Amino acid sequence: MGADWARSAVVYQVYVRSFADADGDGVGDLAGVHGRLDYLAALGVDAVWLTPFYASPMIDGGYDVADYRAVDPTFGTLGDMDALLADAHARGLRVIVDVVPNHTSDRHAWFREALAGEPGARDRYIFRPGRDGGPPNNWRSVFGGPAWTRLPDGDWYLHLFAPEQPDLNWADPRVRDEFDGVLRFWLDRGVDGIRVDVAHGLIKPPGLPDATDLGSSGRRPYFDQDGVHEIYRRWRRLLDGYDPPRVAVAEARLRDVARTALYVRPDELHQAFNFDFLWAPWSLPSLRDAIDRSLAAMGAVGALPTWVIGNHDEARAATRLAAGTLRAGMADRPVVSSSPLDAAVGLRRARALALVSLALPGSAYVYQGDELGLPEVLDLPPSAREDPIWRRSGGELLGRDGCRVPIPWSGDAPPYGFGPDGSQPWLPQPTSWADLSVARQLRDPRSTLSLYAAALRLRKSFVDEPFRWLPAPEGVLTFERGPGLACALNFGPDPAQIPGRVVLASEPGEVLIPNTAAWYTPT
Ligand code: GLC
Repeated sequence: MGADWARSAVVYQVYVRSFADADGDGVGDLAGVHGRLDYLAALGVDAVWLTPFYASPMIDGGYDVADYRAVDPTFGTLGDMDALLADAHARGLRVIVDVVPNHTSDRHAWFREALAGEPGARDRYIFRPGRDGGPPNNWRSVFGGPAWTRLPDGDWYLHLFAPEQPDLNWADPRVRDEFDGVLRFWLDRGVDGIRVDVAHGLIKPPGLPDATDLGSSGRRPYFDQDGVHEIYRRWRRLLDGYDPPRVAVAEARLRDVARTALYVRPDELHQAFNFDFLWAPWSLPSLRDAIDRSLAAMGAVGALPTWVIGNHDEARAATRLAAGTLRAGMADRPVVSSSPLDAAVGLRRARALALVSLALPGSAYVYQGDELGLPEVLDLPPSAREDPIWRRSGGELLGRDGCRVPIPWSGDAPPYGFGPDGSQPWLPQPTSWADLSVARQLRDPRSTLSLYAAALRLRKSFVDEPFRWLPAPEGVLTFERGPGLACALNFGPDPAQIPGRVVLASEPGEVLIPNTAAWYTPT
């Protein structure tokens, strides 16, 4: 089957704005990605997911799309995209693009028509009269504040994210037809798959009832309605109509992986990001349980899990995994803890978790910069911050800018080869990042980049082997992939023996020191 490649693929997430800036305006672009394809091919990933590069006023970094069929001039042209696709394919790299179906930008032609009060135009969005002088219900925006904004004429519209991102009404057949066309537009150009933004949000419950539990653990009524699945069955037919069939990955930010599995039933999407694993606290039982739950839930529908340790919405693994106080990431899940941050421990854990995630059965997602062990940048100047979470929380939450700082490629000072010398990256890079640059890490066999490259090379030999937990000493998580390869991660306070010959270790040494992992051939 032509879509099988995705089942065990390693997909590299390019946050286009922050990857590589070819034209020197401080913002990454498609030509920048194009120029770094050799890097991605040499790293050994199978596919690249590009975050939105469509025409957008950039209120939410491009997740506010004004025209789904146009490339924003900041990112380049359609011709740049075609050239990038052709050269990615020439290197054996597949390309996945983002589709943002839950909401448009308020600058989208449809919303302008709705504002102008053109007949029927408001039906494409979710407009309602207010209640008792206030919004139609008590829903809160994911970015903070109410999920409703009132127009001067008194009507309210729903936006689960920023007010500049009005939610579409998927009960309107014009919306469904339009997105068929958007999908076809990019698939016809040759993209290999799509990432579905807020895949769990498209259908709202009838009557838009008040939310009774607005906490981060409760089920919110505007997410994960059963009606969304009909849309993905329709999309699956569309994807299967291509030769070879194209694939889709769902971004459904759900903790319950059994609910997530519904998105990857055989007639729906192919993959879903594994937030259960991504959000697992650093402890052996929680990681082991997340792995067991994921394998069981996905196995029950004939799918394989994905393993995700970072993306453009979450605090960087190298910082998140250290104990500390962190108000970064998505507003509904700020990472908060009370003990001080320990950067060395965080990086050690991030490297260990990378080895685990790349050894598990299924597909792995690598967020740009995680292969360099980049930390979350916590001290960005307020004037540089762009995330609506930062603004809407009045600075109480740091939001997601700290995981979006442009990549250091080379050199000893900003912009570290992200853009031409003298250019100013849209977010300032720390002056301490010279040691973390790609060029520096390529020369160092012990670097995080060298670790990832070695793991991606070795992984090819066992991706089809069966998974099994192995008995292990207290505090050590151990599993094997077939008879030839085992992986162990030491959560305990003491060094542990490795029962075999080490083939790759997150830190050098003959024993497994705390917070490290190794791949080995069992003896
Ligand atoms: C998804 C994206 C996030 C964006 C949001 C609204 O969660 O990953 O970056 O802000 O959707 O589109």
